[in-house]
Amino acid sequence: MRTIAIILLCWLCQACSQEPTRHSVHSPNNQIHITVQLNDKGQLTYQVDKNDTQLLMPSKLGFTLQKQPTLETFEVISSQIKSFKKDWQAVWGERKNITNEYNELFIALKDKQSERKINMRFRAYDDGIAFRYEFPQQTALSNVVIMDEKTQFNLAQDYQSWWIEADYDSYEKLYKHSPVSQVEHVQTPFTMRSKNGVHLSIHEAALTDYASMTLKHEHNSQLSAELVPWQDGTKVKTKVPFRTPWRTLQIADSAAQLASSDLILNLNEANKISETAWIKPMKYIGIWWGIHLGVHTWQEGERHAATTERAMQYIDFAKQHNIQGVLFEGWNKGWEQWGTREAYLVATDDFDLEKVADYAKRQGVAIVGHNETGGNIAAYESHVNEIFSIYNKLGINTVKTGYVAEKGFSNGEHHQGQFGVNHYRKIVKLAAKYHIMLDAHEPIKDTGIRRTWPNMMTREGARGGEYNAWSDGNSADYTMILPFTRLLSGPMDYTPGIFDIDYSRFQGQRFDWQGNPQKSHYRVHTTLARQLANMLVLYSPLQMAADMIENYQDHPAFEFIKALNVDYDDSKVLNAEIGEYISVARRAKQQWFIASATNSEARKLSLKLDFLPANRQYFATIYQDAANTDWQNNPEAYEIKEQVVDASTVLNLQLAAAGGAAISLIPLDGHLGNINKQ
Ligand code: NOJ
Ligand code: CA
Repeated sequence: MRTIAIILLCWLCQACSQEPTRHSVHSPNNQIHITVQLNDKGQLTYQVDKNDTQLLMPSKLGFTLQKQPTLETFEVISSQIKSFKKDWQAVWGERKNITNEYNELFIALKDKQSERKINMRFRAYDDGIAFRYEFPQQTALSNVVIMDEKTQFNLAQDYQSWWIEADYDSYEKLYKHSPVSQVEHVQTPFTMRSKNGVHLSIHEAALTDYASMTLKHEHNSQLSAELVPWQDGTKVKTKVPFRTPWRTLQIADSAAQLASSDLILNLNEANKISETAWIKPMKYIGIWWGIHLGVHTWQEGERHAATTERAMQYIDFAKQHNIQGVLFEGWNKGWEQWGTREAYLVATDDFDLEKVADYAKRQGVAIVGHNETGGNIAAYESHVNEIFSIYNKLGINTVKTGYVAEKGFSNGEHHQGQFGVNHYRKIVKLAAKYHIMLDAHEPIKDTGIRRTWPNMMTREGARGGEYNAWSDGNSADYTMILPFTRLLSGPMDYTPGIFDIDYSRFQGQRFDWQGNPQKSHYRVHTTLARQLANMLVLYSPLQMAADMIENYQDHPAFEFIKALNVDYDDSKVLNAEIGEYISVARRAKQQWFIASATNSEARKLSLKLDFLPANRQYFATIYQDAANTDWQNNPEAYEIKEQVVDASTVLNLQLAAAGGAAISLIPLDGHLGNINKQ
């Protein structure tokens, strides 16, 4: 009797509901599957599987709009599947030749309750999935204020995860490691690993005229999108037609594969700058570290860092050591009043800007200018045209911008909100007009815009090397998480390459910003060889050798930095585990550069050089931890070994705790190309 009642009930339910619809699309290699479903109520979900394993359980999609009924139940108008494959060339990057190959499912939808229309575009790649919402031109919607994007990420397992907490104005945090169920509110890239070794990372691509996405924990292993708000509490103010950034899930079988993914770049639009000869990766040094250490100051005075004399010394050093650029900070008046016109354009009495710029030009060394806005966006935007035009005439081809404002911009908006996204983009476009490359500190997060605007070279957007100068610093474990989290979004100006690990050379000469003696236990938490490895492992097309030049002068280990060419043609991740170790090999023309780095554990790593072309020998110079290197008590000990290698060589490296190795390979057959010209 009871069974009959249940069957009857089920039959009745089915009779009164709409047939669920199901659409699916798979990756070119047929391993990754996206399944999109509309249930009987019209609720839209997507699900992701890899082979027979479910990665994401059905996860909801939709929006809450201001003064509008919620957009969360739909009818399908039409759907379409297409395949795409195209090779493209990056102006610069970890690799120049990239293949963009995916299958796409497009679904045109209509709101169940009204005439409002929305389209969904899902893409399945071999290295992950992506989807975005598109609001087409329509009469039922014009101006749109998004109050909430209801995208869910309903993870199939309680994965292990690596994350930093969400903060709408700062990414400068230490990473934490926990099961997904224990996170509260986090930034992306949010990286995970399943029990059977599937590596995943949630992020976004092509963030344009929209708010950044953070992730909030709902329950169990379910996360949902939380957009960074305007100060009035709304999230995005826009009008149709518009589309959201891509919501991305990178998927890989190993940490090495995850760190090699091109998904984020593939989802961005093609390069919009037609003439790109002026956009060049380079190494740079700077009048910078001494200020952070507290040996020098930004402000004028006895300990002022940026004097004409020191600037000339840095330019000479750069020229002599195959370094292409020099950064000057604190060369300007008004350092105490960030954001004023003086702070961008008027030099201090002891810094002759024209003379320095002219000298740099004659020596063929580029100047990296510095614009610290202090978060005063209105003032910066009112001066920036004049600044870039004057810099351009002076031959300053790169600008490092700064947005130190931990509580938000002076107008009350957040760095990571739609206002901030639009400001940072405005500066990128304007810089392109003046042929200026950019390095943004306290930036908007990277979502692969460098493909579209290749003058957007690098950015901070994580806790950088500066923290070692004036805080308890960054551990070797922390920097071993970056390649699998922050660096998945794009390059980072970490500022590696510190040789004076414990600042012993400046004992008694370091003061904090109030003028009190600086704490003597502050130091770098790695070996010297690991500092060399970081130059390669922490990818940046503008790579800073951050130490003061007196620490590099006549130092044999500086030969690695001197030889390094950061304009890479190709990169390979040879081995890796999140938070533990990584080895990378990068090729620039005919040269290869290889580095291995480890966390606070000493380890042996074997590197097979089978990626080298057959029948070609290379002269390898290996800079590595010595037998007596100890990051705490003897961090600057290292050894240099020379060896001829080829594709059959296996290098056995012994890395000290918090240690590393850096290797340069020069072909022996004389086909050197322009190895020292970038
Ligand atoms: C913080 C930046 O990260 C650092 O590089 C810069 O020197 C200071 N702000 C001053 O602008
Ligand atoms: Ca910073």
